[in-house]
Amino acid sequence: MLTRTLYASSLLSALVAAAPAPQVSGYTDADGPFPQMPSAIYPLATSFGPDSQIPAIETSVTLAPPRVSSDVTGPTRHGPYSGTPTTTGAVKASTTLVESIAPLPPNPTHTYYNAGGVLLNPAPAPYTPSGGLGTNGTEPRYMVNSDFDFESLALALYQEWIELDLFNNGLAIFSNEDFIAAGLTAEDRAYIAYMAIQETGHATLLTNMLGEAAPVQCTYDYPFRTVREFIDFNQKVTRWGEAGVWGFLSHLDSREASQLLSQSIAIETRQQMSFRQMLGLFPMPEWFEVGIPQSWAWTYLAPYISSCPQNQTRLAWQNFPALHVVNQPNPNRISANNTQPWELAGNRSGDPSDSSIPNDESCVNLNETGYSCGPAISRNRSEPLSFPGRQVNFTWDAPGQAVGPNNSYVTSTTAGAPQFVAWVSQLNLTYTPLTVTGEKSGYTYQPASVVFEGDPALNNTAFVALTDTDLFLTPFNLTMINPHVAALGMYTAG
Ligand SMILES: *[C@@H]1O[C@H](CO)[C@@H](O)[C@H](O)[C@H]1NC(C)=O
Ligand SMILES: *[C@@H]1O[C@H](CO)[C@@H](O)[C@H](O)[C@H]1NC(C)=O
Ligand SMILES: *[C@@H]1O[C@H](CO)[C@@H](O)[C@H](O)[C@H]1NC(C)=O
Ligand SMILES: *[C@@H]1O[C@H](CO)[C@@H](O)[C@H](O)[C@H]1NC(C)=O
Ligand SMILES: *[C@@H]1O[C@H](CO)[C@@H](O)[C@H](O)[C@H]1NC(C)=O
Ligand SMILES: *[C@@H]1O[C@H](CO)[C@@H](O)[C@H](O)[C@H]1NC(C)=O
Ligand SMILES: *[C@@H]1O[C@H](CO)[C@@H](O)[C@H](O)[C@H]1NC(C)=O
Ligand SMILES: *[C@@H]1O[C@H](CO)[C@@H](O)[C@H](O)[C@H]1NC(C)=O
Ligand SMILES: *[C@@H]1O[C@H](CO)[C@@H](O)[C@H](O)[C@H]1NC(C)=O
Ligand SMILES: *[C@@H]1O[C@H](CO)[C@@H](O)[C@H](O)[C@H]1NC(C)=O
Ligand SMILES: *[C@@H]1O[C@H](CO)[C@@H](O)[C@H](O)[C@H]1NC(C)=O
Repeated sequence: MLTRTLYASSLLSALVAAAPAPQVSGYTDADGPFPQMPSAIYPLATSFGPDSQIPAIETSVTLAPPRVSSDVTGPTRHGPYSGTPTTTGAVKASTTLVESIAPLPPNPTHTYYNAGGVLLNPAPAPYTPSGGLGTNGTEPRYMVNSDFDFESLALALYQEWIELDLFNNGLAIFSNEDFIAAGLTAEDRAYIAYMAIQETGHATLLTNMLGEAAPVQCTYDYPFRTVREFIDFNQKVTRWGEAGVWGFLSHLDSREASQLLSQSIAIETRQQMSFRQMLGLFPMPEWFEVGIPQSWAWTYLAPYISSCPQNQTRLAWQNFPALHVVNQPNPNRISANNTQPWELAGNRSGDPSDSSIPNDESCVNLNETGYSCGPAISRNRSEPLSFPGRQVNFTWDAPGQAVGPNNSYVTSTTAGAPQFVAWVSQLNLTYTPLTVTGEKSGYTYQPASVVFEGDPALNNTAFVALTDTDLFLTPFNLTMINPHVAALGMYTAG
């Protein structure tokens, strides 16, 4: 009571404070119709509870649908696979109709245009404009409804399973002191543990929509050696995880499955943003998230799966040869310009940047606005990780390499000699010419494309491919790039 009285009187005396000067240039007449509130934060509370007793009843959970996994998946095993696979290659249908999908003119029924903003068709019911899918009263069926749906959700389930293991793995192998040294507290570790538990829910949801052939948990081979590298890897895994799903959601036959998957991928995108914050990067340096084809997500994911149980449901997607970014901007550096060639924890496309650089070149424990990259809600890097015009050097692998669970998938490409670098970010696909400098090596310069004025297209961790042509594609037909992809990698832009 005493503290409340004191607060009320200090509040009254602060009401006379002068109105602040305009803080957003060009935005005038912004006076709030309320009195200026005090910004004093003292006195602080010193005692906590017992609290007010408020009206409530006794209640309990009556229905808790079972999950397909517990919070942690029990004894684990990690590292590369060294055996011989009992089967090889992607799942194939008994018949494949054509070698590639030919372009068609726009769908003849897609002609709706409403210049007047009034309803053009009879309304099926009050307050119910004509149109939409699944709006005519049919009972929802929350199941995959085609091979396309099955393979897409099965891929997403492989992704949820690795995330469940991955988030727990970093918490298990690094000490509390390791996390503190990377600026992450016990509350942050609890947050990462909670993200792992979210994956058990996502895995359950997808399993339920797939049926008994749903893929199960595998064993994994991770690239990180430090907490920073763990966080960087998480930032990349969730990046291709969300982008892989955004790429196919709108193409699913089952609108019901799309609805539920949208509601889980919204969580994945929050995880991605949170890992960026833990890495001291600007949380969402773009206006739109990007979508990529399923075969891209599978190409990024597969190298980190060492083996899966016998009878695991296999996938139909393609594994492309890896594209390596030699001078991948290192987010642990004060100045990413100083990144040395191959400054990475390993040589797979999604591998994190090397965090073991000299302390006086690292931004992790700096306390300097514009330069620090310790965990924060937001960071304003004075020196960007990358910039338009930056030379980017690549090497790439030949096709025919064994990758993925039990080394039982094989990288392949149908593209001719690579001539372009395709940059996929936000709503845009931008090509730059590839200058080939040797056997499977070359360079290009980062493009300066924008989505809409003021929004540079290439920001956040982006996707890069070598292609044999500069085919014009947009987010809804991006998959038609696949026959032209020679190698596929990731780029730490922003
Ligand atoms: C993959 O390896 C696991 C563990 O050794 C084994 O149980 C499984 O049968 C293998 N699967 C294939 C497709 O080789
Ligand atoms: C209801 O709409 C679906 C498409 O969402 C369509 O397939 C189905 O035939 C419609 N049912 C009726 C009774 O009109
Ligand atoms: C990317 O976003 C950050 C944060 O908003 C910004 O500072 C930076 O200039 C952007 N990068 C490019 C290439 O515009
Ligand atoms: C794998 O599938 C075969 C055929 O359906 C079955 O006989 C066998 O028991 C299964 N093995 C495992 C480990 O589930
Ligand atoms: C990084 O390199 C670019 C291109 O040479 C240059 O414009 C920029 O000033 C450099 N950044 C810093 C912080 O020196
Ligand atoms: C990564 O792989 C590329 C191409 O296979 C090779 O040129 C490069 O030396 C490798 N880098 C490291 C650090 O292993
Ligand atoms: C960081 O610097 C600011 C301003 O100099 C200071 O107020 C703050 O206490 C410092 N924080 C740490 C963790 O050193
Ligand atoms: C943020 O960074 C930009 C340069 O990228 C700089 O112009 C601006 O002053 C910085 N703002 C703060 C608050 O540090
Ligand atoms: C890229 O490779 C070329 C040689 O082909 C080299 O001269 C250049 O310094 C490299 N650029 C970077 C940014 O590493
Ligand atoms: C980027 O995407 C936007 C939105 O689809 C489009 O208007 C713009 O032309 C694209 N820009 C480039 C350079 O492709
Ligand atoms: C992809 O879609 C765009 C329209 O958004 C179209 O102009 C382009 O021709 C399409 N590309 C192919 C290969 O069909």
